[in-house]
Amino acid sequence: MDIPFSRWHAAIPPRRSRRRFDSIELESSLLAELQTICREFRPFPEARAELVTQSPDRILKGAIGPYGKVKGAPALVAFIGDMDDPYVQEKVGYLGEGIILEATAMGLATCWVGGFFRPKVAASIVGAAENERVLAVTPVGHAVEDFSLEERTMTGFGRAHRRKPLAELVTGLDQTELPHWMKSALEAARIAPSAINRQPWRFYVELNRITISVDSPRFTFGISKRLDCGIAMLHIEVAALDCGVQGRWEFLEAPRVAKFPVDSGR
Ligand SMILES: Cc1cc2nc3c(=O)[nH]c(=O)nc-3n(C[C@H](O)[C@H](O)[C@H](O)COP(=O)(O)O)c2cc1C
Repeated sequence: MDIPFSRWHAAIPPRRSRRRFDSIELESSLLAELQTICREFRPFPEARAELVTQSPDRILKGAIGPYGKVKGAPALVAFIGDMDDPYVQEKVGYLGEGIILEATAMGLATCWVGGFFRPKVAASIVGAAENERVLAVTPVGHAVEDFSLEERTMTGFGRAHRRKPLAELVTGLDQTELPHWMKSALEAARIAPSAINRQPWRFYVELNRITISVDSPRFTFGISKRLDCGIAMLHIEVAALDCGVQGRWEFLEAPRVAKFPVDSGR
């Protein structure tokens, strides 16, 4: 399917991780839309998404302490990757963020969960093959209207949503020389979600190309930084398309992740 770039670009700024849901079952029309996007958004054969409506609580297990506790989610989407593929993490990040942006555009709340869930229970519920693993999940549903004190405490009263400035993330061309599409793409990547908000992506910019790398090879919290980078890759592509610029991701060896050469920058 073609990326609905305007719809997903508009969903990037308002998306926030939500962890308290109203426990009310989703309307069948919304479930049907989620099924459709899970089936049709398949940018890579090695990554897929499955909607789970039967007791998502069996998959979402609470953490010790408040971080990661998801309550009352009526449904969940599991993000599954083929572990034989060397770029499985970035592919799952890219795919999963497409589903999350679509859910956001549908008015639903989500939260990437890469740590505090039961991957084996999830794998058996979605019928994962031997070479596949559920790398992350997201609850989907209607969030309780206001952030409760508990949810605000969990996100450090907004700290978990703060981002580094572009000056800390970008090298290469001077920021004043960047074409419009590139500024928009880098800003979309800057505000992407990442595990424990670690923002591990770094961008090297040339006239018609963005190269993304990880900040350090340290593997923290058992969640690959390359998965976070896959999320930022989708944001870059969505923003570029919305500026009328087309490119194609090429995967690279660590510590680099991928480069995005474009036809012509505007
Ligand atoms: C790959 C990934 C894994 C994550 N894992 C968890 C998790 O296990 N539990 C949790 O509560 N939040 C998790 N998060 C959510 C992040 O904490 C959140 O995205 C970050 O703090 C930025 O906040 P925001 O999403 O509201 O912008 C994860 C996010 C990503 C991208």
